[in-house]
Amino acid sequence: MGYSNRLWDKSISIAKGKFIILFQKIVDLLSLLLFLPFAIPKIRNFRHASSKELSDFCFLGVFGLLRPVQIKSEVLEFINYLYERNGNRLVLEIGTARGGTLFLFSRLACADATIISVDLPTKATRLKLLLQKAIPLSGQQMQLIRADSHNVMTLQTVKDIVRDKNVDFLFIDGDHSYSGVKQDFELYQPLVKEGLIAFHDIVAHDQVSGCGVDRFWREVREHFPYDEIIYDNKQSWGGIGILYKNI
Ligand SMILES: C[S@@+](CC[C@H](N)C(=O)[O-])C[C@H]1O[C@@H](n2cnc3c(N)ncnc32)[C@H](O)[C@@H]1O
Repeated sequence: MGYSNRLWDKSISIAKGKFIILFQKIVDLLSLLLFLPFAIPKIRNFRHASSKELSDFCFLGVFGLLRPVQIKSEVLEFINYLYERNGNRLVLEIGTARGGTLFLFSRLACADATIISVDLPTKATRLKLLLQKAIPLSGQQMQLIRADSHNVMTLQTVKDIVRDKNVDFLFIDGDHSYSGVKQDFELYQPLVKEGLIAFHDIVAHDQVSGCGVDRFWREVREHFPYDEIIYDNKQSWGGIGILYKNI
């Protein structure tokens, strides 16, 4: 295939990808506008008896408003991992999106946990915040920071909340470029003195996606004990990598 044909194919895949993202954003915004008042009490009152119930609620339960950007079977396995360690008092997530994983982490953390989640501000931020503020249990504190995780001011805001405490669980699922994920790791991993650091999207993606998490994951896992949750080795996205730091 000639160079111009490859360039054309690549431009078409990028345009298709951008169209799908825009379409998804419009659907998300319309669903939020329509269903928010019904979703808030459902989220507040939800109590689960099993990991499956928790994951089903997240993916299907509230009109898709909380749907995580994850592979369902991987989430289920990840929930079981976190169940075994449900003593998390301080959780930090980079990349809130709708709030799907944030919801899971809050339900798996201690009843008096502090949960921090960072994401970029968008036009839908205010509506999403109304939904996300319904997530914490009554004894939990949730801090939703809407700023660039790479900004030193954001790191300072996080440090002001954490103070001298230990982040028990850090979930990195924000900027998926190689330099973006590396920066998130370098900035926030010192806050985890002992605990878990997990990354989403550790499987190799096609080049068009610009995802470099797999490359960073292969480098970083050399330095820690680790586990991987990958549903199917042929899948083109997803996969969760878990590092154990000093535990
Ligand atoms: C894949 S989504 C997160 C999905 C979420 N963890 C879930 O599964 O429910 C990635 C999110 O990271 C956010 N993001 C990307 N770059 C960022 C940055 N530099 N700082 C903060 N958030 C960022 C995006 O806005 C997006 O909402």
